[in-house]
Amino acid sequence: MQAQSADLLVRPVRARDLDSIIAIDAQITGIEKAEYWQERFHRYGERKRQPCFFLVAECDGGIDGFIIGEVRDWEFGTPACGWVFGISVRPEARLSGIGTRLLDALCNCFKNAGVSKVRTLLVFDDMLVMTFYRSQGMMAAPIITLERNLE
Ligand SMILES: CC(C)(COP(=O)(O)OP(=O)(O)OC[C@H]1O[C@@H](n2cnc3c(N)ncnc32)[C@H](O)[C@@H]1OP(=O)(O)O)[C@@H](O)C(=O)NCCC(=O)NCCS
Repeated sequence: MQAQSADLLVRPVRARDLDSIIAIDAQITGIEKAEYWQERFHRYGERKRQPCFFLVAECDGGIDGFIIGEVRDWEFGTPACGWVFGISVRPEARLSGIGTRLLDALCNCFKNAGVSKVRTLLVFDDMLVMTFYRSQGMMAAPIITLERNLE
């Protein structure tokens, strides 16, 4: 049964959520990255001085999704804005508004931190994530990504 978004609590991550976060990420990406998520928790969940945010969506005591973001000043030469680094919702809990609730909560954190713009990066052919962000009013930004292989 899908969770109803009204039953959800979106709150800052706690150490005891990590196993669920690792499991959701592994279910989506096919790779279990316990060390990576420990580091993310330390950097975004425990650090209080920087405007870093790591939020989870809790329903009936279980974790259905999470989002990570940070306010960055003058990143790529542009004024301070909030960056969404990652969002994931458990496949069985999708399409019930959880992703929307997570992004809204993160955007409120960004606004409280004093910024008026939110940005993210995504793989150009990830239609699911693109469709989600477009549904949230996100548009193409005046930024492009460049890369080259390092010999
Ligand atoms: C993108 C994602 C976060 C959306 O979460 P969600 O809880 O299903 O999102 P919501 O229920 O709030 O959906 C909001 C809107 O997004 C769009 N949307 C979401 N999933 C969609 C789908 N499968 N098909 C079409 N539109 C979709 C719809 O417009 C939807 O609004 P609607 O239900 O009124 O039509 C979720 O699908 C996910 O975790 N995907 C994998 C993300 C990933 O790869 N993360 C790792 C790298 S960051």
